[in-house]
Amino acid sequence: MPSAIAGDLNPFPLEAAAATLEQLGLRDRIELRRGSGLQVLQPGEVSTAVIAGIGAPLAERLLSEAQATGALAGVRRLIIQPNHGYPKLGSLRAHIDALGWGIIDECLAYDHGRMYAIIVAEPGPSTLQDEVDRELGPILRRGNDPLFGAWIEHERARLTQACQGMQRGRADPQQLASYQRMLAILAAAV
Ligand SMILES: C[S@@+](CC[C@H](N)C(=O)[O-])C[C@H]1O[C@@H](n2cnc3c(N)ncnc32)[C@H](O)[C@@H]1O
Repeated sequence: MPSAIAGDLNPFPLEAAAATLEQLGLRDRIELRRGSGLQVLQPGEVSTAVIAGIGAPLAERLLSEAQATGALAGVRRLIIQPNHGYPKLGSLRAHIDALGWGIIDECLAYDHGRMYAIIVAEPGPSTLQDEVDRELGPILRRGNDPLFGAWIEHERARLTQACQGMQRGRADPQQLASYQRMLAILAAAV
C-alpha cells in the first residue's frame, strides 16, 4: 500500500493537513511530521521527495541542507515546485544541477490565477547545456507542455512591466540588461 510522510515547519499547516487527510480517509497512509524541509526524514525512508509551495531560494537551501546532512540518502527522485519564475527559477535549476541531479522532466501547472513550473530530477549527469535550458528548462523549452505558450506570455508580461519600472526609476544597468536578455529568450521561444 503506497504511503507518504508530509512535513512542515509550522504547526497550523500540519493541523490543516491532518483535517484534510481525515476527510479524505488517508490519515493512516500519510504520516505528518514537524520540521524543516527534508530533515523530517530518516536516511533511506523514502525514494521520492517532493518540495512544494515554497520560494526557489528556500528550496535551494533545503536541498543543500538535505544533501549535507544525508537526508537525501535513498532518494532517487526529486519533485520540486517553487513559487517563482525568472530569475530565481533558473537559479534553482542551476543549483539542482550543481548538486549532481539531472533534470529529467518538467511540467507547468495553473492554479488560482498563478502559474508554476514543476521540476523532476534524478541523480545523474547535467541536462543544462546552455542559458536557455537554465532559464526555460531543458524539457519545457521544447514547447510540448499545453501551458507553455501561456507561461511564456505570463513571463513576458511580468518582465516587460518590471523593465518599464526599472527604466522609470534608478535601474541597476546589469539587472535591466539581464531582464532584457530574458525577454529576448522568451521572444525566441514562441
Ligand atoms: C506558501 S505556503 C504553501 C502551502 C501549501 N503548499 C498550499 O499551497 O496550501 C508555504 C508553506 O511552507 C512551509 N515552510 C516554510 N519554511 C519551511 C521549511 N523550512 N520547512 C518546511 N516547511 C516550511 C510554511 O509553514 C507553509 O506551510
